[in-house]
Amino acid sequence: MSLRNVGPERGLAGAGLAGAGLAGAGSRRVRGLSRGGRRGAGVGQRRTQARIRETAYCRWVDTAAGDYWNHNVHYQRVILDAVPDGCGDAIDVGCGDGLLACKLAGRCAAVTGIDRDERMVAVARERGRAVPRVSFVQADFLAYPLDEASFDFACANTALHHMDFSAALVKMARILRPGGRLAVVGLAANGSPADWGIGAAGIPANLWYKHTRGEGYPGAPIMEPDMTWSQVRSAVARLLPGARYRRHLLWRYSVTWVKPA
Ligand SMILES: C[S@@+](CC[C@H](N)C(=O)[O-])C[C@H]1O[C@@H](n2cnc3c(N)ncnc32)[C@H](O)[C@@H]1O
Repeated sequence: MSLRNVGPERGLAGAGLAGAGLAGAGSRRVRGLSRGGRRGAGVGQRRTQARIRETAYCRWVDTAAGDYWNHNVHYQRVILDAVPDGCGDAIDVGCGDGLLACKLAGRCAAVTGIDRDERMVAVARERGRAVPRVSFVQADFLAYPLDEASFDFACANTALHHMDFSAALVKMARILRPGGRLAVVGLAANGSPADWGIGAAGIPANLWYKHTRGEGYPGAPIMEPDMTWSQVRSAVARLLPGARYRRHLLWRYSVTWVKPA
């Protein structure tokens, strides 16, 4: 079933900029609330909005069975292209509804999707039922015991800003085998006028994609990023020497890295 243009979160989230990574630095807000609601909301109002979002969220989950387009899905190709030839074990951190993990299963011997959200993992398991070589774990990635050097590929799509970024990156690197690859697509906050300018450049492309493809969202928990683009870039350079950082048009960065053999 297609998710194009369905779901109440579209109406709540406004015209698309709220979901586009254009929020200012330092904000850490759950997305899906109206812009006006965010600005002056008191605690009671925010709780009401959170309840509205919960309701929306459940309806989304019920429909998340097929393929769809959104900014995360758009950059899945960066992750899929990074899978090493002959990949054995792979892990998708913060896998959401399992769409990417199921695609990875076509390129890897075994894929584990891990997500701490119970409902997302239920949707992912449903999606993965007919897909060989993919399984899902409901757990906090940072707390879940995973053996050192046990994966050939570790990826995360727009999930690391939900957790301690450095700890997640270090753990992903630790569980990779020597020669294994890491691929992260992520969201960051604007911290400078240049960031806003680069962000603005994505608006026409975003409108075009939305117009031609529609936008679907499976209802995964969403959160505004704390770290700015340059903070992410510096942390990556410090933690993963030799990593390639790129900033993309539709408000995402990507990081690819090969663990030294
Ligand atoms: C914005 S969603 C992205 C989901 C999916 N990767 C995608 O591209 O659609 C972030 C996901 O990370 C998950 N998540 C957040 N913190 C986590 C943690 N500590 N461990 C595992 N999953 C986590 C959330 O439950 C959510 O499903």
